[in-house]
Amino acid sequence: MIYSNYDYIMKLGKGDEGMTLKPYVLTEKSFFLYQEVAYPLEERGLQFGDGVYEVVRIYHGKYFLLQEHIDRLYRSAEAIRLAVPFEKEDLIEKLEQLRKMNDVKEDAIVYLQVTRGSFPRAHAFPAENRPNLFAYIREMPRKLQEAENGVRAILTRDVRWEYCYIKSLNLLANVLAKQEAAERGAFEAIFYRDGKITEGSSSNIFLVQGGKVYTHPATERILNGITRMKVKQFCDLLHIPFIEEAFSTEDIAKADEMFLTSTTASIIPIIQVEEQLIAGGKPGEVTRKLQAAYEEAAGLAMKNKNASCK
Ligand code: PDD
Repeated sequence: MIYSNYDYIMKLGKGDEGMTLKPYVLTEKSFFLYQEVAYPLEERGLQFGDGVYEVVRIYHGKYFLLQEHIDRLYRSAEAIRLAVPFEKEDLIEKLEQLRKMNDVKEDAIVYLQVTRGSFPRAHAFPAENRPNLFAYIREMPRKLQEAENGVRAILTRDVRWEYCYIKSLNLLANVLAKQEAAERGAFEAIFYRDGKITEGSSSNIFLVQGGKVYTHPATERILNGITRMKVKQFCDLLHIPFIEEAFSTEDIAKADEMFLTSTTASIIPIIQVEEQLIAGGKPGEVTRKLQAAYEEAAGLAMKNKNASCK
């Protein structure tokens, strides 16, 4: 029998309302049941974080911005000199197949990871090119309450490496930052470096001042979020100036509005940073416009009218 902690993770999923794990997964070889997939302990993603990943949103059983996420996956892989084991079009087709096999109809995410494979542990690249890939789907409801009421954030020093534009598996600094936020009752930890806000532990961060949207430029210091790219497009359409200029921790006190974006969170107002209330603790008008544009683009506008906020 193959040992794995499959039973344990399934039990966790069950207790967690609306977080059901779907049975079929895609790997570099083929489709399998989740519990059939086991990698050796000497796996470079496990041992070195030597790999890249994507999280793609599924709304009402359909992928949202799949092409954009796959394009970024290949960019991340190229940056670490890793060959994704499928051609782009083939991978997209396989992900569509995965969705169908799992009969996904609800809001969910697909998690997709590619690593440099399973080899005896040695830091340098293995001689052979045999990457591992897996993708699974987990139900994930929208964060409607947070989107409506806004969330609190804390500030924490950005101690990450210089290649944050790569969506790599090296997330230890992000994990520690998010844990600090959780322990302090906040939704997100906002990173600052040299007094400037870079991004969140798992989101991009925006400040609105005088009707203009400010955010850190898409340099190597941040992950250029797919949701961030959409917000840029929405701003262009809505004639809202989108200024890619880092703002400082002091600017927060003068902010008219703040918000964060990510695939899992979409667009969520930030109403407090540390002790500082943003605009008296109420989500702002620009944030609301961008949320409406997002809902329209994601085909959620009509359905949302009937959705209840828990
Ligand atoms: N995180 N910055 C960081 C460090 C992130 O981890 C993420 C997303 C983002 C937003 O990117 P996007 O809009 O493409 O999701 C920015 C994903 C959701 C995660 O790791 O779960």
